[in-house]
Amino acid sequence: MKLRLRVNGELHEVEARPDEMLLEVLRRELGLLSVRESCGIGVCGACTALVDGEPLSTCLLLAPLAEGRDVTTVEGLGSDHPVQRAFAEEHAFQCGYCTPGMILTAKRLLEENPRPSDEEIKLALAGNLCRCGCYVKVVEAVKRAATA
Ligand code: FES
Ligand code: FES
Repeated sequence: MKLRLRVNGELHEVEARPDEMLLEVLRRELGLLSVRESCGIGVCGACTALVDGEPLSTCLLLAPLAEGRDVTTVEGLGSDHPVQRAFAEEHAFQCGYCTPGMILTAKRLLEENPRPSDEEIKLALAGNLCRCGCYVKVVEAVKRAATA
């Protein structure tokens, strides 16, 4: 089937099966490889995109249900977003697999709560797992972004 998806501010017409998840369509049809598969069951957050501004596991969202909604991936933030910059400056990653999802979730947190406490940051990012164990640096990065 053909789908019309608004992704990173642009409307795209893409091909997808009706049972395909948004994760697969973003990667295959639009080449948005920052959206990553790991668990495939909504646990790890590697596949996070913002859908209508809210962090969502795209491995759980059927692509046809994303029609008419606003999808944002890390590619849509540009190369110099303050949260991205803070992650780089704090060295808040090792392999980087989890990082796009972390950045999008942190972006949303800071929109809602511009000066979060450590506990609030940890709570907001509880759905974004990091196998490299960069959690301490991630909290520092979010705090740095909050003061940028
Ligand atoms: S791959 Fe979607 S939450 Fe893990
Ligand atoms: S930096 Fe490797 S999984 Fe988080």
